[in-house]
Amino acid sequence: MATSMVKKDLNWADLGFKYRQTEARFSAIYKNGAWSTGALLDSPMISVHEGAPTLHYAQQCFEGMKAQTSPDGRVLLFRPDLNSERMNQTAARLLMPEVPYELFLRGVEETVRANYSWVPPYGSGASLYIRPMLIGVGENLGLRPANEYEFRVFVSPVGPYYKSAGLAVISLAVSDYDRAAPNGTGAYKAGANYAGGLLATKKAQELGANEALYLDAAKRTYIDEAGSANIIVAMKGNRFVTPKSNAILPSVTRRSIMTLAEQHLNMQVEDRPIDLRKEIGDFEEMAACGTAAVLAPVGKVWLDGAWHHFHDNGQSVGPVMQKVYDLLVGIQRGESPDENHWTHVVKID
Ligand code: PLP
Ligand code: COI
Repeated sequence: MATSMVKKDLNWADLGFKYRQTEARFSAIYKNGAWSTGALLDSPMISVHEGAPTLHYAQQCFEGMKAQTSPDGRVLLFRPDLNSERMNQTAARLLMPEVPYELFLRGVEETVRANYSWVPPYGSGASLYIRPMLIGVGENLGLRPANEYEFRVFVSPVGPYYKSAGLAVISLAVSDYDRAAPNGTGAYKAGANYAGGLLATKKAQELGANEALYLDAAKRTYIDEAGSANIIVAMKGNRFVTPKSNAILPSVTRRSIMTLAEQHLNMQVEDRPIDLRKEIGDFEEMAACGTAAVLAPVGKVWLDGAWHHFHDNGQSVGPVMQKVYDLLVGIQRGESPDENHWTHVVKID
């Protein structure tokens, strides 16, 4: 498949977060205990057997990554090794075969390269969202793992997840539903976790929030995470805190932010359970973070029938989150020195 170097004629500043069909996607098949080499395909359609375990028992998982254009025109991935590692942790939890890093990265790179014309240009504020997925296919009826799997990667150019502007302030509503049990699948990127969250998101949106905020399922006391992002908090006493929980997704963005906070913020950095009701009065700034969300300042939280406001009454991003955003995005876009060697260049030709 020839790579077109001519960028698509899109309004890059106004893409939203939605699926746009591009020319190529990558697919590899696991059969008889081995992966095929994999190849690029034209069609966005997947044909699976009606008995496929991905359809009945949600034996599937996915990842989310982004490619961005740097000021000098390079196409950068951000820490793809961590997405591969997490996909394999999820695969192990759901009794699916590991996708070797070589196959994972090749699938991602080939898909990005073949869709170069869809990679948003530098300065547009948009990025190419990358969705690797692993699904249990083949024929099965009883509750047991599939004997065939498809690893697929597709891409779509996207703008910010929550709103149209880069650092729009969002709101979260504490959910009456639980996202994940303490020893369940919350720490894995299993699609089933998200199906269970759709109703919680709807309820949160009915309250005027962008999405749900989940507390720990065992005690309904400690912050777990938002529906599609982890949480970070700047607290009184010059503390930068993220909730520790074994039921949340180990976010690549949050782990990177915590490292940057240690390296660049003159604050005490803590990874520990956060008792929402006891500590919310100490919150100065709160944010949701993730690949799609990037870093979204949380202006207010709905808890026990009332809104709790943070920095500037939720009008604007606070100074700590602005700094963290600039540090993170500067590296992801190749604007600042990448001292931790997190970016990975996709060779285009
Ligand atoms: N938590 C959930 C439930 C998510 O879906 C995501 C998105 O991937 C995240 C957190 C953030 O993770 P990451 O930063 O690796 O994208
Ligand atoms: C991501 O941030 O990559 C995700 O997978 C979240 C998803 C709900 C869009």
